[in-house]
Amino acid sequence: MGKSKISMAVVRRLPKYYRYLCELIEKDIKRVSSQELGKLTGFTASQIRQDLNNFGGFGQQGYGYNVTELKNELGKIIGISEIYNSVIIGVGNLGQAITNYRRLGRVGINLIGLFDKNPKVVGLTIGGIKVRDTDELGDFVRENNIKIGIICTPKEGSQETTDILVENGAKGIWNFSPADLKVPSDVVVENVHLTESLFTLSFLLNQSLEDGQ
Ligand code: NAI
Repeated sequence: MGKSKISMAVVRRLPKYYRYLCELIEKDIKRVSSQELGKLTGFTASQIRQDLNNFGGFGQQGYGYNVTELKNELGKIIGISEIYNSVIIGVGNLGQAITNYRRLGRVGINLIGLFDKNPKVVGLTIGGIKVRDTDELGDFVRENNIKIGIICTPKEGSQETTDILVENGAKGIWNFSPADLKVPSDVVVENVHLTESLFTLSFLLNQSLEDGQ
């Protein structure tokens, strides 16, 4: 089965498998059964086997999964084994927090540029990276083979910023702004909205409280 036919539900579960496999490696655990992986992730063992079978299956009956092999294979599927040159645009509270997030490198983000339009922010050094003026964004993206743009600007300006990124070769947009960005079909956008996640929590909490009454 080709990657394009994998359902988004499966794709969304893969990072969780990956995260727990990394933890197992840190504990020097060499193999894991689908039942054990199920206990950790909260998914059923059959769900896990089904998910991994989408990619050809990596387990052996009676043995389970080799933790390192499975982690490496999932890393390749998710694309984590790739390292992408990336920039952040909008270096306020959120942009700075992401810049200082030490594990970015482990998840394939090679952050090499920070951009802002506020003269008070331009010129500062954050996490060892100098903040540049957004006027330099297009050239920087082109010259440094930037593949991922991380949008941490307010809603206003986020589409314009995205257009500059895309025109100069970026292929992935990690969008934290509350805007629905328009991109060509060969560019992917992943939106991260804390508030939407909070609405889901609120909905589930309401349901659970009603069920408990
Ligand atoms: P902030 O006001 O601290 O920082 C925004 C920065 O963007 C400022 O430094 C500003 O100078 C810069 N900026 C504004 N327009 C720009 C442009 N056109 N080009 C380059 N830089 C520009 O705001 P904060 O709290 O960091 O939030 C940033 C964005 O992230 C907002 O859109 C906010 O709604 C969103 N946000 C999203 C969250 C999420 O869950 N996805 C959580 C928190 C914030």
